[in-house]
Amino acid sequence: MMMDRTELLRQIKDEVINPALAGKGGAGLEESPLYKERIKNKVFPVIGEGSHRARIMFIGEAPGKNEAATGRPFCGAAGKILDELLASVGIDRKDVYVTNIVKDRPPFNRDPLPEEIKAYGPFLDRQIEIIQPEVIATLGRFSMDYVMRKFGLESQLCSISQMHGKIFETETPFGKIKIVPLYHPAVAIYNKTTKDTLVKDFRILKDFK
Ligand code: URA
Repeated sequence: MMMDRTELLRQIKDEVINPALAGKGGAGLEESPLYKERIKNKVFPVIGEGSHRARIMFIGEAPGKNEAATGRPFCGAAGKILDELLASVGIDRKDVYVTNIVKDRPPFNRDPLPEEIKAYGPFLDRQIEIIQPEVIATLGRFSMDYVMRKFGLESQLCSISQMHGKIFETETPFGKIKIVPLYHPAVAIYNKTTKDTLVKDFRILKDFK
């Protein structure tokens, strides 16, 4: 019998929580220093949350302190900005899906390393294939880079200051999707100009609520 989306997503959660279940698909998560840190610090991985039938999927970088403490994506200061941005275009957070590339918190919130993106990327790939969103809104340059490359659009990659708020269309095995690179909401915490830009860029998403 075919598994439904919720069951398939549950499987990913189980594998990230207990990488021994993942086998080869887990890309050796047991060896990931971030996984070891999670166990040592008794914090949680952050898998993702929201509608399993979301038309819009938001992809951030990696959990921060609040996220690792609760297991929920974007629940700290950057999350508050994300909530405000969603509210500004009348989108209910429960109708979208929010996740990150890296599922465990990098120490001191440092940038994720290439090997960490490689280790956790397969889980994100599966989440995208299960949810089959119409729009992927990337939050920050790491997820912009990952998603553009994943869909073969690396030739169109340039700096986020040139790419934010534009729509990049591509064909996938589950149909056409739009990739919308956005600045990371954390940048908007202290930068009013970035916040104004995000508010403007979010208007693109209105058509997909
Ligand atoms: N920053 C991210 O990229 N993701 C989160 O979940 C929180 C902060």
